[in-house]
Amino acid sequence: MRGNLAVVGVQWGDEGKGKIVDILSEEFDCVARYQGGHNAGHTVSFGNRRHVLHLIPSGIFQPKVTCVIGGGVVLDPLALIEECQAIEQVMAIHVEGRLFVSNRCHLILPYHRVLEAAVEKQLGERRIGTTSRGIGPAYEDKMGRRGLRVCDLMDAETLREKIASSVAEKNRVLQALNYPQTIDPEPIADSYARYGEKLKGFVADTSRLLNQMMREGKRILFEGAQGTLLDIDHGTYPYVTSSSAAAGGVSTGLGISPKHVHTVVGISKAYTTRVGAGPFPTESLDSNGEQIRTRGNEYGSTTGRPRRCGWFDGPAARYAAMINALDSVVVTKIDVLDTFAEIPICVDYKYKGSVLKEFPADTSVLSDVEPVYKTMRGWQTSIAGLKEWAKLPAAAQDYLKFMSDYLETPVSMVSTGASRDETIRL
Ligand code: GDP
Ligand code: IMO
Ligand code: MG
Repeated sequence: MRGNLAVVGVQWGDEGKGKIVDILSEEFDCVARYQGGHNAGHTVSFGNRRHVLHLIPSGIFQPKVTCVIGGGVVLDPLALIEECQAIEQVMAIHVEGRLFVSNRCHLILPYHRVLEAAVEKQLGERRIGTTSRGIGPAYEDKMGRRGLRVCDLMDAETLREKIASSVAEKNRVLQALNYPQTIDPEPIADSYARYGEKLKGFVADTSRLLNQMMREGKRILFEGAQGTLLDIDHGTYPYVTSSSAAAGGVSTGLGISPKHVHTVVGISKAYTTRVGAGPFPTESLDSNGEQIRTRGNEYGSTTGRPRRCGWFDGPAARYAAMINALDSVVVTKIDVLDTFAEIPICVDYKYKGSVLKEFPADTSVLSDVEPVYKTMRGWQTSIAGLKEWAKLPAAAQDYLKFMSDYLETPVSMVSTGASRDETIRL
């Protein structure tokens, strides 16, 4: 691996990006988040410590790494302030001077959460099952060219005017949605002006900063949140998040040329999970799914919701490998499959009797596909914490080789536990 590296999720998020970014960032000068917001929950474990990051890049635990939150991220300033406080208190890490936030980040305001709740309620059965962080409505305002940005926090008077005009519009929308209350702009303007004061020392033109670092020959790791199947353009729309989670988002989200992305690594679980609603062809609703959930502790890092669990979905992962042109894949949580005598892998989707040649764009098609499985032999012994390929049982090696052949992508790392050192490097 040379130059700059993008790390992206291959599935519907929670693939273990946080763990892998933390490990890889040792070899980089900077880790930059390019999209998403505090809907993300990236877990990093080392020693006997475990910390979940939401906005702060997962390079923060490597002392020499500079961290950047790029303009493609939507920022809830209070969430960032609280996350900084938590990391200072719990992990004794001083972030100011190491963490830079783009002055172009769009802001999440309290009314975004209110709107999201109202819309999800209206959708009823068709709701997306969002993280309720206001992500979607904040990106809507960005694209609608009426959003507020971090740079707007720097002048209290203009901020007050912008918030007042935005709230007036939101109150009209909420009224149309039969929302029982109206929003008062004044307390929002007061608190956001205070957040602006607190964040002043973090705010920078991060595009300039990154381009400057690259001119000096420094190496950047681009950290994706969510996963390719949650990407606004390429995911299982409309059951997606509202940002560009795939590798294409790196350039627009950070204000750097696509020429600067040299390598793309995808993170995939050895099986599949999904939080929230939407089609999930290999979902296992029986005791197998339950076993994966229990063994893998598959509960959301951000919302605590139980994750839906199922077998490795080959066609979906192969589609993600293509979208990102993955140079390699890191397979995580293979230890979770230790107990199974047989492990099915989905190798094709059948729809109305025929095998589909491409990953369907239409959610109603994806909901109706019938997965075609190849059954792999289980290893039925604990591989938790293994650090060497040669120590893996033959059946586990076969499973990983099959994944790699199927994806036409080499496996560069295998993760056998949550901790930094529970990793096989290939
Ligand atoms: P992210 O959003 O992609 O960073 O992933 P999350 O942190 O939301 O979810 C991954 C979960 O799996 C976390 O609780 C990790 O500590 C844990 N984890 C990561 N890799 C492994 C692994 O190889 N084995 C096991 N058992 N747990 C892992
Ligand atoms: P990390 O970075 C898993 C899902 C939500 C919902 C959909 C839209 O930890 O992998 P949103 O709040 O973004 O509008 O919700 O996207 N979702 C995630 N699922 N991991 C995440 O992040 C997610 N971030 C959003 O559950 O289905
Ligand atoms: Mg997560």
